[in-house]
Amino acid sequence: MKRIGVLTSGGDSPGMNAAIRSVVRCGIEAGLEVWGIERGYEGLLDGEIRQMDRSSVGDILHRGGTILKTARSERFMEPKWQDKAVEILKTFGIEGIVVIGGDGSLRGGLELDSRGIKVMALPGTIDNDLSYTDYTIGFDTAVATVLEAISKIRDTSSAHNRTTVIEVMGRHCGDIALYAAVAGGAEYVLLPEVETDVNKVCLKIIEGNNRGKLHSIIMVAEGASIKSAELTKIIEEKTGKETKQVVLSYLQRGGSPTLNDRMLATLTAEKAVELLKNNSQSKAIGTCNGNIVAYDLKDVLKMPKSFNQDLYDLVDVLSK
Ligand code: F6P
Repeated sequence: MKRIGVLTSGGDSPGMNAAIRSVVRCGIEAGLEVWGIERGYEGLLDGEIRQMDRSSVGDILHRGGTILKTARSERFMEPKWQDKAVEILKTFGIEGIVVIGGDGSLRGGLELDSRGIKVMALPGTIDNDLSYTDYTIGFDTAVATVLEAISKIRDTSSAHNRTTVIEVMGRHCGDIALYAAVAGGAEYVLLPEVETDVNKVCLKIIEGNNRGKLHSIIMVAEGASIKSAELTKIIEEKTGKETKQVVLSYLQRGGSPTLNDRMLATLTAEKAVELLKNNSQSKAIGTCNGNIVAYDLKDVLKMPKSFNQDLYDLVDVLSK
C-alpha cells in the first residue's frame, strides 16, 4: 500500500476534520501518500481528488464541518457507478481508502471492498446509530449543543411557566434525545424505540405543575412516532398550559468538536492508517468500553443496536 484516499460522506458531524487531519498526518508519517476525495462518493465519481500534505490539514482540528465537503450520492447506489468509482480509484493509483460517515457511507464502503479496494470505515455521524461502537464521532458535540439549548430554553420556560417541546435529530435512533434528556433534566422523552403515550406525557406535566414546577421540558427525537408540532398542540389542549415547540435542526451538526469527539476521531483514524499500512482486510473502527476496536466491515451493519432501557427509566425517576 503506497497511496491511500480519505473521504467524508453523508451528513457532516463535528470531529470529521479531526479525523481527516489524523489520517493525513499519520499516513504521511507511515510513508504513505494521502489523497483527499471531495464531496464523498459524489466527488469520487467526478474525480475530485487531490494530494494532501501536512499543512493542508493545519488549523482544522477545532472546526466543525468537513474541509473535504460531503454529499449524499444517489448515483453511487447503482452498481455501474460503483464500478466506475473503482476504475477512478485505480486510475489514481489509490489502493485503500478511509471512509468517514454513517451507515449509508459504510454500505458504500462495502461495495468498494467487494470490488477489491481496502476500506477502513470511521463512524462519522451525530446520530450514534452504529451498533458496533460505543459512540460515533460528533454525537458528544451534538448532545453538548442540545444541552446548551435546554439551559437557555429552561430560563425562559420558567419565566413564563410554559411547557416546551424540543425536537432533536437522530433519524431512527433516539440517542441524542435520550442522553440530552438525562443530562439536561427533561421531564419526558419520546423516542423511536419506545411506543408513544401522549396521555402519560400530559400526566407528567400536570403532576409536575401540581408540585410547583415552573417549566416542563419534553424532548422528542425526530424519529418518534409523533411529530413535535402535533405533540405541542395536543399537550396545550390536554393540559391547558401554554406550550411552545423548538426544533433544533442543523444547529446540532455544527460547532467545535468536544474533547471526546476529537479523541475518538483522532484515534480511530490513526488505527485506520495502521491497518491500511499493514494491508489488513476492510474494517470498521470504533470503540468498545473505551478501547479502540476494529471489526470486519462486512459484519458491522448486521449487528443489532441495543436500547438502553435503564437510561430511559432514569429520565422518569429523576424528573418526579
Ligand atoms: O444522519 C445525520 C442527520 O443529521 C440525521 O440526524 C438527520 O435525520 C439527517 O442527517 C438530515 O439529513 P440532511 O442533511 O440530508 O437533511
